Amino acid sequence: MKKTSAAIFAALAVTFVVPASAQFAKPEDAIKYRQSALFVMQQNFGRVAGMAAGKIPFDAKVAADSAAVAEYVSKLPWAGFGAGYDKGESKAKPAIWTDKAKFDDNAGKMQTEMTKLAAAAKTGSLDSIKVAVNATGGTCKSCHDDFRAK
Ligand code: HEC
Repeated sequence: MKKTSAAIFAALAVTFVVPASAQFAKPEDAIKYRQSALFVMQQNFGRVAGMAAGKIPFDAKVAADSAAVAEYVSKLPWAGFGAGYDKGESKAKPAIWTDKAKFDDNAGKMQTEMTKLAAAAKTGSLDSIKVAVNATGGTCKSCHDDFRAK
Protein backbone atom coordinates (compact mmCIF):
# COMPACT_ATOMS: atom_id res chain seq x y z
CA MET A 1 0.00 0.00 0.00
CA LYS A 2 2.77 2.38 1.01
CA LYS A 3 4.70 1.53 -2.12
CA THR A 4 1.65 2.24 -4.28
CA SER A 5 1.08 5.73 -2.86
CA ALA A 6 4.75 6.53 -3.25
CA ALA A 7 4.54 5.45 -6.88
CA ILE A 8 1.42 7.53 -7.41
CA PHE A 9 3.09 10.52 -5.81
CA ALA A 10 6.14 10.09 -8.02
CA ALA A 11 3.89 9.99 -11.09
CA LEU A 12 2.06 13.14 -9.98
CA ALA A 13 5.33 14.89 -9.28
CA VAL A 14 6.51 14.19 -12.79
CA THR A 15 3.30 15.66 -14.20
CA PHE A 16 2.82 18.71 -12.00
CA VAL A 17 6.03 19.76 -10.38
CA VAL A 18 8.19 22.37 -12.05
CA PRO A 19 11.95 22.13 -11.46
CA ALA A 20 13.14 24.47 -8.73
CA SER A 21 15.83 25.91 -11.01
CA ALA A 22 13.34 27.47 -13.44
CA GLN A 23 9.86 28.85 -13.18
CA PHE A 24 8.54 26.67 -15.98
CA ALA A 25 9.33 23.11 -16.99
CA LYS A 26 10.01 24.10 -20.61
CA PRO A 27 10.19 27.35 -22.63
CA GLU A 28 6.97 26.38 -24.48
CA ASP A 29 5.16 26.41 -21.14
CA ALA A 30 6.41 29.92 -20.35
CA ILE A 31 5.26 31.14 -23.77
CA LYS A 32 1.85 29.51 -23.42
CA TYR A 33 1.52 30.90 -19.90
CA ARG A 34 2.26 34.52 -20.86
CA GLN A 35 0.11 34.39 -24.00
CA SER A 36 -2.79 32.84 -22.05
CA ALA A 37 -2.54 35.48 -19.32
CA LEU A 38 -2.43 38.29 -21.90
CA PHE A 39 -5.43 36.75 -23.67
CA VAL A 40 -7.48 36.50 -20.46
CA MET A 41 -6.48 40.05 -19.51
CA GLN A 42 -7.53 41.33 -22.96
CA GLN A 43 -10.93 39.59 -22.75
CA ASN A 44 -11.70 41.38 -19.51
CA PHE A 45 -10.11 44.72 -20.37
CA GLY A 46 -11.74 44.65 -23.82
CA ARG A 47 -15.20 44.24 -22.28
CA VAL A 48 -14.70 47.36 -20.17
CA ALA A 49 -13.14 49.24 -23.10
CA GLY A 50 -16.13 48.23 -25.24
CA MET A 51 -18.47 49.76 -22.68
CA ALA A 52 -16.34 52.91 -22.51
CA ALA A 53 -16.56 53.20 -26.30
CA GLY A 54 -20.33 52.64 -26.28
CA LYS A 55 -19.98 49.42 -28.26
CA ILE A 56 -21.29 47.28 -25.39
CA PRO A 57 -24.19 48.42 -23.17
CA PHE A 58 -22.79 49.76 -19.89
CA ASP A 59 -23.34 47.48 -16.94
CA ALA A 60 -21.60 48.82 -13.83
CA LYS A 61 -21.39 45.42 -12.10
CA VAL A 62 -19.95 43.63 -15.14
CA ALA A 63 -17.49 46.49 -15.68
CA ALA A 64 -16.31 46.40 -12.07
CA ASP A 65 -15.96 42.61 -12.08
CA SER A 66 -14.14 42.54 -15.43
CA ALA A 67 -11.77 45.36 -14.43
CA ALA A 68 -10.98 43.57 -11.17
CA VAL A 69 -10.11 40.36 -13.05
CA ALA A 70 -8.04 42.31 -15.61
CA GLU A 71 -6.18 44.03 -12.76
CA TYR A 72 -5.34 40.73 -11.10
CA VAL A 73 -4.37 38.99 -14.34
CA SER A 74 -2.18 41.98 -15.34
CA LYS A 75 0.32 40.72 -12.75
CA LEU A 76 0.71 37.33 -14.38
CA PRO A 77 2.26 37.49 -17.88
CA TRP A 78 5.66 38.82 -16.80
CA ALA A 79 6.92 35.63 -15.19
CA GLY A 80 6.69 34.09 -18.64
CA PHE A 81 9.24 36.56 -20.04
CA GLY A 82 12.09 35.34 -17.86
CA ALA A 83 15.59 34.43 -19.03
CA GLY A 84 15.66 31.53 -21.48
CA TYR A 85 12.08 32.02 -22.70
CA ASP A 86 13.01 34.07 -25.76
CA LYS A 87 12.86 31.28 -28.35
CA GLY A 88 9.69 29.68 -29.62
CA GLU A 89 6.36 30.39 -31.30
CA SER A 90 5.91 33.89 -30.05
CA LYS A 91 5.58 37.51 -31.10
CA ALA A 92 7.91 38.60 -28.33
CA LYS A 93 10.78 40.65 -29.77
CA PRO A 94 14.39 39.91 -28.72
CA ALA A 95 14.58 43.47 -27.30
CA ILE A 96 12.55 42.24 -24.31
CA TRP A 97 15.61 40.32 -23.15
CA THR A 98 18.23 42.89 -24.17
CA ASP A 99 16.30 45.90 -22.82
CA LYS A 100 14.63 44.18 -19.87
CA ALA A 101 14.54 47.31 -17.68
CA LYS A 102 12.50 49.22 -20.25
CA PHE A 103 10.20 46.25 -20.79
CA ASP A 104 9.65 45.85 -17.04
CA ASP A 105 9.01 49.57 -16.76
CA ASN A 106 6.31 49.28 -19.44
CA ALA A 107 4.76 46.34 -17.59
CA GLY A 108 4.77 48.33 -14.35
CA LYS A 109 3.09 51.34 -15.96
CA MET A 110 0.37 49.17 -17.41
CA GLN A 111 -0.33 47.57 -14.03
CA THR A 112 -0.52 51.00 -12.38
CA GLU A 113 -3.09 52.17 -14.92
CA MET A 114 -5.01 48.90 -14.66
CA THR A 115 -5.26 49.41 -10.88
CA LYS A 116 -6.67 52.90 -11.50
CA LEU A 117 -9.15 51.42 -13.97
CA ALA A 118 -10.31 48.84 -11.43
CA ALA A 119 -10.80 51.64 -8.88
CA ALA A 120 -12.70 53.76 -11.42
CA ALA A 121 -14.93 50.82 -12.37
CA LYS A 122 -15.74 50.24 -8.70
CA THR A 123 -17.18 53.75 -8.44
CA GLY A 124 -19.60 52.96 -11.27
CA SER A 125 -18.79 56.23 -13.05
CA LEU A 126 -18.66 55.67 -16.80
CA ASP A 127 -16.81 58.97 -17.26
CA SER A 128 -14.02 57.88 -14.91
CA ILE A 129 -13.90 54.50 -16.62
CA LYS A 130 -13.45 56.17 -20.01
CA VAL A 131 -10.48 58.20 -18.78
CA ALA A 132 -8.87 55.12 -17.19
CA VAL A 133 -9.50 52.92 -20.25
CA ASN A 134 -7.69 55.45 -22.45
CA ALA A 135 -4.74 55.68 -20.09
CA THR A 136 -4.49 51.89 -19.80
CA GLY A 137 -4.88 51.33 -23.53
CA GLY A 138 -2.02 53.76 -24.14
CA THR A 139 0.30 51.64 -22.01
CA CYS A 140 -0.63 48.48 -23.97
CA LYS A 141 0.14 50.26 -27.20
CA SER A 142 3.52 51.66 -26.18
CA CYS A 143 4.77 48.25 -25.13
CA HIS A 144 3.38 46.51 -28.20
CA ASP A 145 4.96 49.16 -30.47
CA ASP A 146 8.41 48.43 -29.06
CA PHE A 147 8.31 44.81 -27.95
CA ARG A 148 5.69 42.85 -29.89
CA ALA A 149 6.26 41.75 -33.47
CA LYS A 150 3.50 42.53 -35.98
C1 HEC B 1 5.34 45.27 -21.05
C2 HEC B 1 4.88 45.03 -22.39
C3 HEC B 1 3.43 44.78 -22.67
C4 HEC B 1 2.35 45.44 -22.16
C5 HEC B 1 2.31 46.58 -21.18
C6 HEC B 1 1.19 44.83 -22.78
N1 HEC B 1 1.56 43.83 -23.63
FE1 HEC B 1 0.33 42.68 -24.70
N2 HEC B 1 1.92 41.62 -25.40
C7 HEC B 1 3.23 41.91 -25.16
C8 HEC B 1 4.09 40.98 -25.85
C9 HEC B 1 5.60 40.96 -25.85
C10 HEC B 1 3.24 40.09 -26.53
C11 HEC B 1 3.64 38.88 -27.37
C12 HEC B 1 3.74 37.66 -26.44
C13 HEC B 1 4.12 36.37 -27.13
O1 HEC B 1 3.67 36.13 -28.28
O2 HEC B 1 4.86 35.58 -26.53
C14 HEC B 1 1.88 40.53 -26.22
C15 HEC B 1 0.75 39.88 -26.68
C16 HEC B 1 -0.54 40.26 -26.36
C17 HEC B 1 -1.73 39.55 -26.78
C18 HEC B 1 -1.75 38.27 -27.61
C19 HEC B 1 -1.75 37.07 -26.66
C20 HEC B 1 -1.88 35.76 -27.42
O3 HEC B 1 -3.01 35.23 -27.49
O4 HEC B 1 -0.86 35.28 -27.94
C21 HEC B 1 -2.79 40.25 -26.31
C22 HEC B 1 -4.26 39.92 -26.49
C23 HEC B 1 -2.27 41.39 -25.58
N3 HEC B 1 -0.90 41.36 -25.62
C24 HEC B 1 -3.05 42.32 -24.96
C25 HEC B 1 -2.57 43.36 -24.19
C26 HEC B 1 -3.39 44.37 -23.54
C27 HEC B 1 -4.90 44.46 -23.65
C28 HEC B 1 -2.56 45.17 -22.86
C29 HEC B 1 -2.89 46.36 -22.02
C30 HEC B 1 -3.99 46.29 -21.09
C31 HEC B 1 -1.21 44.68 -23.08
N4 HEC B 1 -1.25 43.60 -23.89
C32 HEC B 1 -0.09 45.23 -22.51
C33 HEC B 1 3.70 42.92 -24.36
C34 HEC B 1 2.92 43.78 -23.61
